[in-house]
Amino acid sequence: MDTKRMSAPASLWLMSVVCFVLSQSRSTCPENQVLHSNGRCCQYVRCHPQHYVRICNTEGGVDVCVPCGPNAYLDDPTDSYFAFDCLEKNCGEDTVPIDSPATEFDGSACFKRCRCNPAKNYCGTDPCRCRYTLCSQGETLLQNCTCVRLQPPYQ
Ligand SMILES: *[C@@H]1O[C@H](CO)[C@@H](O)[C@H](O)[C@H]1NC(C)=O
Repeated sequence: MDTKRMSAPASLWLMSVVCFVLSQSRSTCPENQVLHSNGRCCQYVRCHPQHYVRICNTEGGVDVCVPCGPNAYLDDPTDSYFAFDCLEKNCGEDTVPIDSPATEFDGSACFKRCRCNPAKNYCGTDPCRCRYTLCSQGETLLQNCTCVRLQPPYQ
């Protein structure tokens, strides 16, 4: 008798059973819908950068692209299969959120998407090293830490 010739068909049979089970568990959503980790099927969507995927809240509903808030960003496109969250800008008290990394304006700055806030008397181009600067009365603090006297009428 030949045991080798017996075991090959047996393992093939087992493999096809495993594949059948896997394909059954993966195709529980109708076409063009995505199975999310909460077990819900939603209609596929693809989002531009600076948007996240809001997962549908009813079975078979539509996933929606929602813009990141002013304090968050997401540079990569995302979709229903890879639904990444927006990242927090985490700007300090002396800074305000901006769209680009501070390194775009100052190569030696830290990589935050924040800028020093002259409206709160903080200036400079590195959001991790803002300088507290008070101007004389009637003067306005600029980003580069110079004080200028604005001509009336203001703005
Ligand atoms: C600061 O910025 C203002 C306006 O952009 C500019 O006119 C001035 O020359 C700058 N000063 C310095 C020291 O860079």
